[in-house]
Amino acid sequence: MAIRKIILHPDPILEEVCDPVEKFDKKLYKLLDDMYETMIAYDGVGLAAPQIGIKKQIAVVDIDDDNGPLELINPRILEAGGEQTGPEGCLSFPGLYGEVSRPYYVKIKAQDRKGKFFIIEAEDYLARVIQHEIDHLHGILFTSKVIRFIDEEDLLESEGAEQE
Ligand code: NI
Repeated sequence: MAIRKIILHPDPILEEVCDPVEKFDKKLYKLLDDMYETMIAYDGVGLAAPQIGIKKQIAVVDIDDDNGPLELINPRILEAGGEQTGPEGCLSFPGLYGEVSRPYYVKIKAQDRKGKFFIIEAEDYLARVIQHEIDHLHGILFTSKVIRFIDEEDLLESEGAEQE
């Protein structure tokens, strides 16, 4: 495995629409392993492929809960409901945080590294992180959804402000 370089805003790749994954091969496994290692190395809870310069519909998420590390390939939101507002950060915007409103619940269909389809339901913080990553795959950055930017000092008092 290898730690990849994180692409920072305003690199244009971050605002491009990613291509679907069609080949589920060893190259993909290596990429997923590298993405996971990179996310951990940067202390993130999620990472999307364009953030390491790869324009593919791939994201990894790990909020350190019972769901363990999640690999989302070609993810689609099937259902979304409710609303939550909370702080978000992004590895492509180091040190920048803001309040974002998103659906509280999502039902996602995605493929695993073997190409097998699966469905995952998520709520609260996990739903927030998954939606942040899926946005990346469509070239949508959290800054376009921020209601209010937050000072890093104020963040210490609020939970769940990891980078995605
Ligand atoms: Ni992000």
